[in-house]
Amino acid sequence: MALLIIGSQRSAEFLAAIREIAPDMDVRVWPQQAGRIEDIGYALAWGPPPGALKTLPNLRLVVSVGAGVDHLMHDPELPSIPVVRYVDPDLTRRMVAYIALQVLFHQRRMSEFIELQHNRTWKYLREPAPAEVRVGLMGLGVMGEAAAVALRALGFQVRGWSRSRKHLEGVTCFAGEGELDAFLGDTDILACTLPLTPETRGILNRPLFRKLSRSGRHERLPGPVLINAGRGGLQVEADIIAALEAGELYAASLDVFETEPLPATSPLWAHPRVVVTPHNAAESTSRAIARYCVQQVRALERGEPLKNVVDRERGY
Ligand code: NDP
Ligand code: OXD
Repeated sequence: MALLIIGSQRSAEFLAAIREIAPDMDVRVWPQQAGRIEDIGYALAWGPPPGALKTLPNLRLVVSVGAGVDHLMHDPELPSIPVVRYVDPDLTRRMVAYIALQVLFHQRRMSEFIELQHNRTWKYLREPAPAEVRVGLMGLGVMGEAAAVALRALGFQVRGWSRSRKHLEGVTCFAGEGELDAFLGDTDILACTLPLTPETRGILNRPLFRKLSRSGRHERLPGPVLINAGRGGLQVEADIIAALEAGELYAASLDVFETEPLPATSPLWAHPRVVVTPHNAAESTSRAIARYCVQQVRALERGEPLKNVVDRERGY
């Protein structure tokens, strides 16, 4: 059966990489080179047009180009076949590096030092020690758990929140809706790697920011910090700006946005306490994704279990 590459702007790179890794595989690119749709058994997909996968009568597997699968789950006509998401140690390491970088940036009050430098001002600012700062990881999956280990090694106090209860050494773990407020009240820097689902959409909003810890803020940080590397749909950008202006947030690092690319008119671009990056917290090479896709297709063909299968009920 053939593999169809669909939706991604990197289709040509995936095609070249798969042809090199698996020269015997019949690979096609949607829509121009899809050929006979009855031949297509597998799809490597990123944001395919809603309804497109349903037109493939013999499709058996969808491999998501990304770790997040919201780009597939929003298709009401997504066929009832296994969907596997991309999980890769290098991708995870890159996300861990992004989160650690942003946590350190704000703990060391770097946005203020950059401003002082622009003004040629030599001024001492008190920086809290890592042990004085509580980092709350929203999402304790592949990314969140790895970030927890790294942040602990850097000496931070680490908390985590997930849907189901976790038990991670040295991490205070909170679970479910019922423990969200306690988690927020025990957090100085909130770092989010939640997936975007109907339950998490818009969760990073002003009422939530107001629940972040303010106790001992002078010893710890000038105020709470938000880091979002999950998905833009998790955040309400107008609320982030309002919370920054009101001092309810001290600073933010945002890698993902409600609209991507972030429109030039967004006030986030120029805010002195906001770090904007272009959805590149964790990126993988086309070759690594192609290799992963071929492994999953081969496993299915051999009747072996698939890895990282998405739970369609939960949506991630
Ligand atoms: P996982 O599925 O491994 O982890 C998701 C975590 O979120 C789990 O701990 C899960 O809880 C928790 N969660 C989901 N829904 C809820 C909820 N309603 N309430 C509480 N907790 C919830 O995903 P990954 O860690 O691999 O990736 C996370 C996300 O990161 C991706 O979905 C993607 O959006 C984003 N991402 C962004 C990248 C970037 O470059 N910016 C790159 C890669 C990923 P439980 O453990 O109980 O299931
Ligand atoms: C992903 C991403 O989900 O790059 O992998 O956002």
